[in-house]
Amino acid sequence: MKKKVVLTKNYLEEVIERLKREFELIVVEDTGKNLHEALEENQDAEALISFLSDNIAKESIDICKNLKIIANYAVGYNNIDYKHAIEKGIYVTNTPDILTAATADLTMALILSVSRRIVEADEFVRRGSFKGWQAKLMLGKELNGSTIGIIGMGRIGLALAFRAKAFGMNVIYYSRTRKQEIERKYGFKFVRFIELIRESDVVSIHIPYSNDVHHLFNKDVFDLMKKDAIFINVSRGALMDEKCLAQELEKNELFGAGLDVYEFEPEVTEKLKKLKNVVLAPHIGSATYKTRLAMAMMTYNDVVLALSGKKPKYLIPECKL
Ligand code: GLV
Ligand code: GLV
Repeated sequence: MKKKVVLTKNYLEEVIERLKREFELIVVEDTGKNLHEALEENQDAEALISFLSDNIAKESIDICKNLKIIANYAVGYNNIDYKHAIEKGIYVTNTPDILTAATADLTMALILSVSRRIVEADEFVRRGSFKGWQAKLMLGKELNGSTIGIIGMGRIGLALAFRAKAFGMNVIYYSRTRKQEIERKYGFKFVRFIELIRESDVVSIHIPYSNDVHHLFNKDVFDLMKKDAIFINVSRGALMDEKCLAQELEKNELFGAGLDVYEFEPEVTEKLKKLKNVVLAPHIGSATYKTRLAMAMMTYNDVVLALSGKKPKYLIPECKL
């Protein structure tokens, strides 16, 4: 008999086909039930493939007595009560590395879009306002020679640092642990958090979300930033006080912001939608076909390993099973 796997939402068909060949696959989205109900009906499921938008709480984890693995289709896994899962001996995996370049590219795209006012410029042309070259039309902020402050020098932070350097930016960073090797090799300079906030022309955040860093960017921090600085968040929305950010942008206390994530995703603060100095993307950091396919294959491979009694390859660091 085929083992049962629950996938919360549809993802790439190639991988769904593979899952179906190997397992009895339940796609929650197609059942018309919510996750809890679907798990109640499939208590014999041995694997759960989840999305970052699924809240995998203790209560859900406890429903399936035979659950061996929760494979999160994302690098971030703050949506899972992973401590509880690990305590119960359930493997928890994510999709690191593979999405680093795509996410760093999207970050750079947001930085460029905000600094050169690309979205505003596109709108300007479409509504027929372009009447010829003008000396002061759409003046933006120059990246060359400016300073980018990267919060979190993990894989994505480092990939962004390389891109920023290629644009002539001076790179400083703050990280919980100092990365001497990176400093020696590339000259990216470690600074204190407050120093980074005060000195950077672009501040970009690349750390995982946890309660400890809830609203890391609050009014006090935004107020320390330069008045013509750009704030970028492609990590998790709750790392910032979104309402406060909207107020700062409205009062031109910042040059602008680029967001791919939101505090109450998929809700977006109404005020942000009305502002010209913010570029809004719908959580598409890893959204290239190549990356999303590779991520889906990682979840598939790890489910196959776990359900054949082997250790999955992409266990989250906290999972030492
Ligand atoms: C995207 O936000 C991810 O965590 O993969
Ligand atoms: C996540 O933050 C990563 O570095 O891949």
